[in-house]
Amino acid sequence: MCGIVGYIGSRPAAPILIKGLHQLEYRGYDSAGIAVGGPDHPQLQVFKAKGKVDNLEANVHRALPLPDTPLTTGIGHTRWATHGEPSETNAHPHLSMSGDLALVHNGIIENYQLLKEQLTEFGYTFKSQTDTEVLVQLIDYFYQKNGRQLTKAVHQALDKAIGAYAIVVMEKDDCRHLVAARKASPLVIGIGKDYSEFFIGSDATPLVEYTHKVIYLDDEQVADIRIGQEVQITNLDESSADVTIKDVDLDISALSKGGYPHFMLKEICEQPHCMENSMRGRVICREDGLYEIKLSALNHFKAKLIRARHVIIVACGTSWHAGLIGKQLIEEMCRIRVEVEYASEFRYRNPVIEKDDVVIAISQSGETADTLAAIQLAKEQGALVFGIVNGVGSSIARATDTGIYIHVGPEIGVASTKAFTGQVTVLTMLSLALAHALGTLSDEAFQQTCHELAAIPRKMETVLQQNDRIEQLSGRFTYARNFLYLGRGYNYPVALEGALKLKEISYIHAEGYPAAEMKHGPIALVDKEMPIVCLTAHDQLYRKVISNMQEVQSRNGRIFAVVTEGDDEVRRIAEEVIEIPDTMPCLLPLLSVIPMQLLAYHVAVKKGLDVDMPRNLAKSVTVE
Ligand code: AGP
Ligand code: GLU
Repeated sequence: MCGIVGYIGSRPAAPILIKGLHQLEYRGYDSAGIAVGGPDHPQLQVFKAKGKVDNLEANVHRALPLPDTPLTTGIGHTRWATHGEPSETNAHPHLSMSGDLALVHNGIIENYQLLKEQLTEFGYTFKSQTDTEVLVQLIDYFYQKNGRQLTKAVHQALDKAIGAYAIVVMEKDDCRHLVAARKASPLVIGIGKDYSEFFIGSDATPLVEYTHKVIYLDDEQVADIRIGQEVQITNLDESSADVTIKDVDLDISALSKGGYPHFMLKEICEQPHCMENSMRGRVICREDGLYEIKLSALNHFKAKLIRARHVIIVACGTSWHAGLIGKQLIEEMCRIRVEVEYASEFRYRNPVIEKDDVVIAISQSGETADTLAAIQLAKEQGALVFGIVNGVGSSIARATDTGIYIHVGPEIGVASTKAFTGQVTVLTMLSLALAHALGTLSDEAFQQTCHELAAIPRKMETVLQQNDRIEQLSGRFTYARNFLYLGRGYNYPVALEGALKLKEISYIHAEGYPAAEMKHGPIALVDKEMPIVCLTAHDQLYRKVISNMQEVQSRNGRIFAVVTEGDDEVRRIAEEVIEIPDTMPCLLPLLSVIPMQLLAYHVAVKKGLDVDMPRNLAKSVTVE
């Protein structure tokens, strides 16, 4: 949650910070702010605004003579409120009571109430309702006490703070210096030429324009960043830590809308290309026309993966839905028992994890706090942890023993789309590779599935050609207060995903159900007002789903069906049908999810809603 930026160098800081906040806005957007300072400047100047970064930008433009300002140091934040309503007062950066320090913070300080009481006894007063303001006052307390040594004060304060954080602190007295720290929330430091300037971001997106040399701060580390010097990193216990500078490789074009009205539509339409990227060098068609799957992650851990008696998939949200498809793929192809767990539940149960178990963590961002905690637990219990992640160099990618990047490029729209198909693609490749090694899939079935997998990107393009039709008919459903999504087998998780997409961006309540389960309760909701999306492509359960649809039709429900090309039977029952090309049941989700994404998108656009940044959500959920 929330985006953090920072800058020290010789350029005016404010424009760099604001541009960075725009790029990180998908992470949180209920309010934003910056603090800037400079040599010979007596005060830290703070600008804040409720709502989007645009509002902040307007405030800053009114007040600062850009771009000639001598304010060359600064920190910025776009907030996703946890403590205190979204308001200008609660927006970050927060100043200490002395005005000497400013702080931006991502995360939650769990013991803030107790710390606040103690600081109040020392005479500190508070303007906001946030946990963050308590932290800046605590740092200030140690700063004033120990001769204004900022890094030391940060260490002392963090020693008392319980919770999760990524922070950046600046001091009025020394504008050549920033201190950053992290525990369970990401932070990246970009290094300018000869250490003449530094850029900080919650992820690398706002940095790549300026530098490709970065340091990913590790958990429980504090970085002392000073112009003209190498970054000094210490662990929370004050022991010094190694500093590894990495090259970051990020395609900047992925960060713009490229002519589309929204990132979400762009990302939906990119899926054929993304899937090709995901399979490149992994699904290989040899000269003899036979396929093989090459996954470098299997090189070192193949024996352990094959030995797995039990696989546990942990994930949240859309990634959890991909996990449900992964369960079916692995069980069907590899005959290994698979459980799929919400990471947030798994971490607080006492789950049975055995030494030979493999835990697969799936995450688009690679920063989800619950998933990270689940990984920690699995590692403590001796399981091999395998990551399926999009965020290159992200916390989850680094915390797992091995894994496969999905390689679909940055996903900016808050509603996950191309990451889902990327995750399902990787799960399919992994299942095929393991099944091949285990001998649980015949050569013929292996070859047929690989061949069909390789054909999916073209088939996705055919589905995308129906965008205009879906747009037209979406207008008929904007009145709805509730939707039902029904699917079975491989299409059941797609029903859940379709319902989640609609909820997230159109604010229409929607539920996904296994189609046959409907008669055990939800059927009571069906009336002539109720749109019901039925996933009815040809698979072994096709006839059964038709019976479920007939039950809906007899109660006057409005059926929107996704069918296999040429299906006339469903057309007679449904009000609307969208056709998808024929494929194998195990690959169906890669096609059938696209009409779900487009329907949700167009309904939300027709309702005039902000599809890329829906209310109350954030792209990276780094708080639990
Ligand atoms: C998807 O549309 C959501 N915004 C959300 O459910 C997301 O999938 C979930 O927060 C998990 O995120 P991750 O994949 O980055 O771990
Ligand atoms: N807990 C802090 C607040 O509510 C930070 C939230 C965030 O990560 O944006 O202000």
